[in-house]
This record gives sequence, C-alpha cells and structure tokens, in this order.
Amino acid sequence: MNDYLRYLRKNLSFERYTHSLRTAELARVLAQENGVDPEDAYLAALLHDIARDLPVERLEELAGQDGKPFRDFEREKPVMLHGRAGAVLIEQLFGIEDKSILEAVRNHTTGSPGMDSLSKIVYVADTIEPGRKHISREDFTRYRKMSMNELLCRLLEESFAHLGSKGNAVAQPALDLYNELSRVTQ
Ligand SMILES: [Fe+2]
Ligand SMILES: [Fe+2]
Repeated sequence: MNDYLRYLRKNLSFERYTHSLRTAELARVLAQENGVDPEDAYLAALLHDIARDLPVERLEELAGQDGKPFRDFEREKPVMLHGRAGAVLIEQLFGIEDKSILEAVRNHTTGSPGMDSLSKIVYVADTIEPGRKHISREDFTRYRKMSMNELLCRLLEESFAHLGSKGNAVAQPALDLYNELSRVTQ
C-alpha cells in the first residue's frame, strides 16, 4: 500500500491525493455493505484518479494502449480519458491484473452499461465522498439510505442536470448506464 500512496502523493495535487484517500475510505464501507471485497474497493478507489493530473499527450498515449478507439466525447475532452489511462497505468506500474479493479478505474469517469458492483461503488464513492462541496450532509444521509442502483441513478440524473445547465453534452456510456439502471430500479 505504501508504494501506491507514495506514487499518488508524488503525482497528484494535494487536493486530489486527499480526495483519493477519502474516496477509498468510503468505497471500503460501501463494499462492506454491498457484499463486495472491501480491499479491492479500497484499492480501486484509491487509484481511480491516478492519471488525472497527467498531460493530455500522455493521457492519449496511455488510454490508446487499451486497444479501443477513442470516442467523440474523449476526442473533444481528452481529460475524460483519465479513467482508461489510469487502468493501463496501474497494470503497468503495479502489475494489477484484477479485471474488476481495472474496470472500476476505467469506468469511473462516465460510468458504463453492464458495469459490476465494484465499478458502481467506486463511481458512487468518487461522487459523494465527504470532501465534495456540492453535497450537503442532508443529501449524504439521504443517499446512504438508498440502494446502490437507486443512488447511482440519482447521481447520474444530477450530473446530467449539471452538464445541461452548463451547456455540456452527456457522454453516451453515462446515458446507456442510466437507461439500464432505470429498467432495474423501477
Ligand atoms: Fe476521475
Ligand atoms: Fe475522483
């Protein structure tokens, strides 16, 4: 664990480093509550933003190594590649090969249809960790009473509203995930 912390401390801004620690702590608790391995959740959440502060050229270089084409929203906003780049990076740097952990890092930027419980936990923990200023204590308490799928649905709706208010488009994988969840939470 020390290697991970040392790397993150060196390569992330202090704010992003502490965000990563808080996300990891919350992910561990959510995992315990949802029958997911808590240490996998801690690790995936700790490393989810590992590539977030890399320059665009490096993001593109790393993300391109996963063998999938770049999508429109990734071309328009290369920072959206930091999940894909992060997944490639943790495999290269630390030899992490657990598919579910790699997917959770990859999926955290937009979410993705078909994503597993570990990915959902990392997405949720990233969005609502206690350092997030836009989430009040009341919101947090309310969120904590929801099922993982309900909460994820709610957070996606809020992110769509936020993107819409700024005139930004919603990424297709986020929409596809939302449509999938809407079917199971009805
Ligand atoms: Fe991120
Ligand atoms: Fe994050």
